[in-house]
Amino acid sequence: MIQPHGGKLINKMCSESLPLTIKNNIELDSISLSDLELLAIGGYSPLEGFMGEKDYSSVKEKMRLANGIPWSIPITLPTSEESARKIGVGEEVGLIKDGILYGKILVTDLYVPDKREEAKHVFQTDDIAHPGVKKLFERPNVYLGGPITMFRRPEKNQFEEFRLDPAQTRIEFAKRGWKTIVGFQTRNPVHRAHEYIQKAALETVDGLFLNPLVGETKADDVPSDVRMESYLSLIENYYPKERVLLAVFPAAMRYAGPREAIFHAIVRKNYGCTHFIVGRDHAGVGNYYGTYDAQNIFKNFTEEEIGIKTLFFENSFFCRRCGNMASPKTCPHDSSERVSLSGTKVRGMLQNGEMPPSECTRPEVAKILIKGMQSPLIPSGSGRRHEK
Ligand code: ADX
Repeated sequence: MIQPHGGKLINKMCSESLPLTIKNNIELDSISLSDLELLAIGGYSPLEGFMGEKDYSSVKEKMRLANGIPWSIPITLPTSEESARKIGVGEEVGLIKDGILYGKILVTDLYVPDKREEAKHVFQTDDIAHPGVKKLFERPNVYLGGPITMFRRPEKNQFEEFRLDPAQTRIEFAKRGWKTIVGFQTRNPVHRAHEYIQKAALETVDGLFLNPLVGETKADDVPSDVRMESYLSLIENYYPKERVLLAVFPAAMRYAGPREAIFHAIVRKNYGCTHFIVGRDHAGVGNYYGTYDAQNIFKNFTEEEIGIKTLFFENSFFCRRCGNMASPKTCPHDSSERVSLSGTKVRGMLQNGEMPPSECTRPEVAKILIKGMQSPLIPSGSGRRHEK
């Protein structure tokens, strides 16, 4: 079994009740609640808590923790100046959301970040139109750092059977006898290009870990419950079921492109994957990143340091002349032969109840998306659809 990042799978779950010494609580937002959970279950191993200033600065500037281990995205706990004023270093603080106590942090660091600097390093832009940058600036202005403990998990009212922790996926992979497992990150319904690169990888590894992100996404991404339905239908109709494990990834989407690709790969290593797919414009948004920046960024590290093998894929499409899915690496024909619709175009068709070409989207998937898009949506950014 592949070693977790840093060598040890962290477990910060604890059933203890709140010690009486806790005086102050801070309110989590949905990003920090999902980070708390991923810290506690070891998804973010070797991190044991929210980053203190040394790790934060080092990650921001060098894409490494202060001890040199690669890590590309700051995992921070922002709180307001007003609540920070009441908190002292060395204090244990309760972590609550909507009145529910989820865990605690032993505060070792309390610092005011330079968010513009953070944005420029992590997102390569400080443009507020970038959804990750916008979120960064919207969140409160003081960061708390220190080790955490989690007492209680968020409600599992959705996707219950698809919530597997890294310790559980590792056991499941072993039970299935899989030695090589390719992880696939997605925040979208699986289109033919996704299917093609997943299956190309599956030709050489034992199993596919389909791990859609279901934490906070921007409002115009397809809600996670609709996506889950589409993944299930696709597996049912087009995949050898015994070679796929579907589980949700509770993290929030950052849209940090290249930096997030490294983060996604490392976290999937913690789940037990040996391989990870990075296609075109991984975790990108708009035109902020070059098509293959998220692949090139891995050159900053040795393979041993990252530990999980990356499988890079070029922009894939259906070629009419070839009569199959292909990429510029395997198809000599020009773009006039390619069925390749933009995400915006496909979304527009689905919203109008039109089926996109089956060379782009499987009809079973398209039907689910059409139905999902025509249901009332609350653009809460929670990635969830709310039935009225
Ligand atoms: S992401 O934000 O989660 O990366 P998405 O769900 O669209 O977005 O992509 C999932 C994975 O598939 C990423 O690795 C992405 O690079 C890859 N990918 C998406 N579309 C294509 C395509 N047409 N060709 C090659 N790779 C693709």
